[in-house]
Amino acid sequence: AIDLTGRHFLKELDFTSEEFLGLVALAAELKAAKKAGAEVQRLRGKNIALIFEKTSTRTRCAFEVAAADQGAFTTYLDPAGSQMGHKESVKDTARVLGRMFDGIEYRGDSQQAVEELAAHGGVPVFNGLTDDWHPTQMLADVLTMTECREGALAGTAFAYLGDARFNMGNSYLITGALLGLDVRIVAPEAYWPDEAVVARARKLAEASGAKITLTGDVAQGVAGADFVATDVWVSMGEPKEVWAERIAALGPYAVTMDVLRATGNPDVKFLHCLPAFHDLGTQVGRDIHARYGLTELEVSDEVFESPHSVVFDQAENRMHTIKAVLVATLAGK
Ligand code: CP
Ligand code: NVA
Repeated sequence: AIDLTGRHFLKELDFTSEEFLGLVALAAELKAAKKAGAEVQRLRGKNIALIFEKTSTRTRCAFEVAAADQGAFTTYLDPAGSQMGHKESVKDTARVLGRMFDGIEYRGDSQQAVEELAAHGGVPVFNGLTDDWHPTQMLADVLTMTECREGALAGTAFAYLGDARFNMGNSYLITGALLGLDVRIVAPEAYWPDEAVVARARKLAEASGAKITLTGDVAQGVAGADFVATDVWVSMGEPKEVWAERIAALGPYAVTMDVLRATGNPDVKFLHCLPAFHDLGTQVGRDIHARYGLTELEVSDEVFESPHSVVFDQAENRMHTIKAVLVATLAGK
């Protein structure tokens, strides 16, 4: 099994495809062991700090359950619950937590902050989402895709529709490039990932055989896709004022049944990292409805609830894959 003792998990670019797929394979083993009631605890007595400067359901719960399953303890620090950034620098916080904990998870806006924690903490640091990357989500999504495809992923056609300038778009592009996928970013040009990210993806593709497409044309972008993915149109930390421009710009990129039909693939699967806005079950959804008359946004409720949708497999796999990261980086010590 893969051993990444002492390594950080900050962004996909830090890993080879063998390492990345090694983590996914370890997650599959850990998942099977848990389901069989045969989990072996390899993190007994370890302590893990969970810093959340932004809210979370899946990521926090995945870290807490994964750690508990493996015999480790967690301490949750919410946005108001630590001195970091308010009264104490990231560097000092890193040096304090590094004296007490065996590993540190961080979620916030700044990739620089998670890199700085890693530089000064002296223990493995895990990125639980920044504005730039969502690498633990990529492990879960690749595990989910592997399960859907019953094995090899190379050549799999993957289309991401919507706002691709943020964590999910960046991470999918780089992960697809790393693993040799036929990855399509389908969005208006203003919502494509930064040029530097695209250049890194093209470089990775030379080695992996990945195919990189950026297009504003939905029909062309999704043709033959095995997977269609999207994400919220307004991410955490963005102001309410951007909703109107997002709805105008990204409306044509909503994942509807027509989009799934345009793939020409009756077995196409739909991915979403969640949370999703597909009904009026949230306050944000009700606000959007009151203002713009819309009841669904980046994905139609019909697609979300259809047999194409594997979103709750993805959510479950967050836990198994985060457990793999913890075991691979912390169990060896
Ligand atoms: N997908 C994801 O990261 O969900 P949370 O924001 O609930 O952690
Ligand atoms: N792009 C979203 C992902 C949430 C998991 C956000 O940053 O809010």
